[in-house]
Amino acid sequence: MCGIVGYIGDKDLNSVLMSGLWRLEYRGYDSSGVASIMNGDLDVRKVEGKLMNLQEILSEKPLVGKIGIGHTRWATHGEPSDQNAHPQVDCNDSIAIVHNGIVENYYTLKEELIKKKHVFKSNTDTEVIAHLIEENYNGDLKESVLKSVSRLEGSFAIAVITVSEPDKIVAYRYGSPLIVGLGKKENLIASDIPALLDHTKRIVIMEDGEMAVVKKNKVEFYNKDGESIEKEEREIKWGPESLDKGKYPHYMLKEIYEQPDVIERNIGLRLHDGKFDFGENFNFSPHELAHLSHIVIQACGTSWHAGYIGKYIFEGFSRIRTEVDISSEFRYRNPVIEGEPLVMAISQSGETADTLAGLREAKAKFLKVLSLVNVRGSTIDRESDSAIYLNAGPEIGVASTKAYTSQIFQLYLFAIYLSRLKWSLDTSEIEEKTRGIIKIPEKMRSTLKNADTIKDIAEKYKDAKHFMFIGRGINFPSALEGALKLKEISYIHATGYPAGEMKHGPIALITQNTPVVAIAPQSSVYEKMLNNIEEIKSRGAKIIVVATSGDKRIKELGDDIMYIPPCEENVSPVLVALPLQLFAYYIAVLNGRDVDRPRNLAKSVTVE
Ligand code: BG6
Repeated sequence: MCGIVGYIGDKDLNSVLMSGLWRLEYRGYDSSGVASIMNGDLDVRKVEGKLMNLQEILSEKPLVGKIGIGHTRWATHGEPSDQNAHPQVDCNDSIAIVHNGIVENYYTLKEELIKKKHVFKSNTDTEVIAHLIEENYNGDLKESVLKSVSRLEGSFAIAVITVSEPDKIVAYRYGSPLIVGLGKKENLIASDIPALLDHTKRIVIMEDGEMAVVKKNKVEFYNKDGESIEKEEREIKWGPESLDKGKYPHYMLKEIYEQPDVIERNIGLRLHDGKFDFGENFNFSPHELAHLSHIVIQACGTSWHAGYIGKYIFEGFSRIRTEVDISSEFRYRNPVIEGEPLVMAISQSGETADTLAGLREAKAKFLKVLSLVNVRGSTIDRESDSAIYLNAGPEIGVASTKAYTSQIFQLYLFAIYLSRLKWSLDTSEIEEKTRGIIKIPEKMRSTLKNADTIKDIAEKYKDAKHFMFIGRGINFPSALEGALKLKEISYIHATGYPAGEMKHGPIALITQNTPVVAIAPQSSVYEKMLNNIEEIKSRGAKIIVVATSGDKRIKELGDDIMYIPPCEENVSPVLVALPLQLFAYYIAVLNGRDVDRPRNLAKSVTVE
């Protein structure tokens, strides 16, 4: 997934495009570039590597135009290089394009264009679009773009400029997100809201098959047939200040420490005198929910781990059969769906292509879809029948933290609500759980107070080459998430396993000093967990335990312990997530990793 931005107006083009790209860097950061028009010529600057490289080029020789487009890349076709960086141009260097998405039929189109004597300079799929527009150009960029995109298959959010019409940016959306920012005597386009917020809070969200012709004093919208369309303007409620790291060295650490406030905010929004309120975009009736046959959850990455925890919660006390699927598998395995299930799509960004495709698959099967999203107005939000918002605020760090704990929290609340509709819990049990909820933020704050201890433990294990994470029951997915966090940001190999499964194979990997992170808070499977820890300890492993404070027995077994306060078993994943996040964070920092921009990753991937 990439980030694209465009600006037309009188502000300094370099700072507008660069500040936009910095705000979009979480979407991809292996190369970048900008283009503008000056005295009838295209002015293109692009470079491989982190955004700082482009910043340096522009500070040496700034753009001077009043119109420009920019791009930060997460390579899909063509390795990161100066040549493959965007903008891509046509044969005559008269048309420049930036693109987020994948042109799946680029190879066929490229062959066709080469036969027509077009000369390609890169190995990207995107360059095909520049040459197609050139091939279709008839003096009207809007028409040429419409004609060209009708030949494309895949996903494409694009912005195009041409020296022949230096007064407009033509943008088109299909499959990848694109937003227009409305200003006074200036207008912008971008892949996501953060890139616009320094200039305006007035936005228009583009839908699939829509075009925007962005001029200095007006923006016109068209559908794929070139017919003019009206679009709804929205106002963003949060400001650029929520995008700053503040006193923290990294967004990830800031977002880790924001988690108690996020949960507290949600308690205020979701619980009113013991009654549940899932927000303005939740419109399933109690009758519908009381009669759903089962739940099917589909998601990716960290969101999938939250969904997996949801399975334990829904089956645990709502007594609702729950399937959990990785979206990219759900999408293509043509799942057998009987009865009237509720399909849940869990996604922080609301733009992950695999999860969106899974949602559309469910809709194609006439199933109801409830999504858990953090980004309002995202594609998954808009295409779902209902949405529960995570209210976590913008999550910038590529490794998800506050969105994850909010996802688990929303699933927990929703499960209590369903238990009432399904009569699987009686009133006193529901009241007890609701009372327990109020204490979670404080328990999270006291867990975060152990950060220094966790840092010392990380210092001890920072040079390890392999880690295992084990957990049982509802904390097996927590082990998967702990391993993922470490992999994502420290690049150290780590695997999560159900603790009971170790003896059936993975225990063969245990040698002297293999560090094993065992998630063993007080729970219904605590005794079994102790047995599993004994099994691997007897083979020489170093045991780092996540345990409940005051647990004396675990002290004898664990080499190092990260404590959480006592809590209800089904809530424990929200608490154990914190030491696991901090452990991964400190190991990554101690290994000099770029924690917020880990290699090869992007905040959410809008290509399948
Ligand atoms: C990956 C992110 O690209 O997508 C992960 O790096 C994330 O952090 C995963 O969990 C799924 O993203 P989302 O936005 O659908 O929750």
